[in-house]
Amino acid sequence: MSRKKIVAANWKLHKTPSEGRAFANEFSKIVAQIYAPTSQTETKEKGSDQPPQVIVFPTATGLESLIQAAGEATNKAAGALPIFEIGAQNCFFENSGAFTGETSPKILADMGAKHVLVGHSERRVIFKETNEWIAKKVKAAQSCGLTPMLCIGETLDERKSNKTFDVLKLQLIEGLKLLDKNMPFSLAYEPVWAIGTGQVATAALANEAHSFIRQELARFSLGDLSYTSILYGGSVKPENAKELIQMPEIDGFLVGGASLDPKSFAAIVAAVQK
Ligand code: PGA
Repeated sequence: MSRKKIVAANWKLHKTPSEGRAFANEFSKIVAQIYAPTSQTETKEKGSDQPPQVIVFPTATGLESLIQAAGEATNKAAGALPIFEIGAQNCFFENSGAFTGETSPKILADMGAKHVLVGHSERRVIFKETNEWIAKKVKAAQSCGLTPMLCIGETLDERKSNKTFDVLKLQLIEGLKLLDKNMPFSLAYEPVWAIGTGQVATAALANEAHSFIRQELARFSLGDLSYTSILYGGSVKPENAKELIQMPEIDGFLVGGASLDPKSFAAIVAAVQK
């Protein structure tokens, strides 16, 4: 199985549902050219150069209308692949109960979401999510048919004190403890110091971290995880996407700020497609 290329938009706490629909409208027009049926047939025949999978992670309250907009965009393009799929930025690990304010993976799946981010550094740092919770969320998401994207990454202090690889290893081992390797999942390496700072990791540094992650995955007793897509996240822009995607271990991007504008997000998708 070859590694899938993925480009994902993490909107964080941005965009109202109507702003999300306006984005979907404009983005799908631009990106439909990349996903045009003719080029799809050609790429399918070539067998290797598939268009990247595009995922948008809106706010929880923006999910419903964006799921509808994504469906309409795909129907309009009449392509074989969805123009973009939708995921949630977070979920709880129980499906129901006395958990005020939470959203369950069962609800997300019922709404038509296909993916969920788990363990984003903002969840870890601001909302104090532990690796134990993160592992449970990965499991709960998979058992409802959602594809979890586990986010891992070191802080600046951890990098400065040479703890990067220890941190990544721990977040991986603990976060994937309850993983069902027969169900889809992906990983995003997001150095915390690069998120929202404009300070992107160099291509070499990101590739080094990705190759460490891949090496650790190979050590897991879970079996062959070599098909796992590993995305880079942290200040990705159209200007740096081309260089980063050339790196052998980088399979795509998780994009925050630059995903809010349909043109710049589409330019990143195009960079990955080339
Ligand atoms: P950024 O955010 O692209 O704005 O750095 C990435 C993320 O937090 O996923």
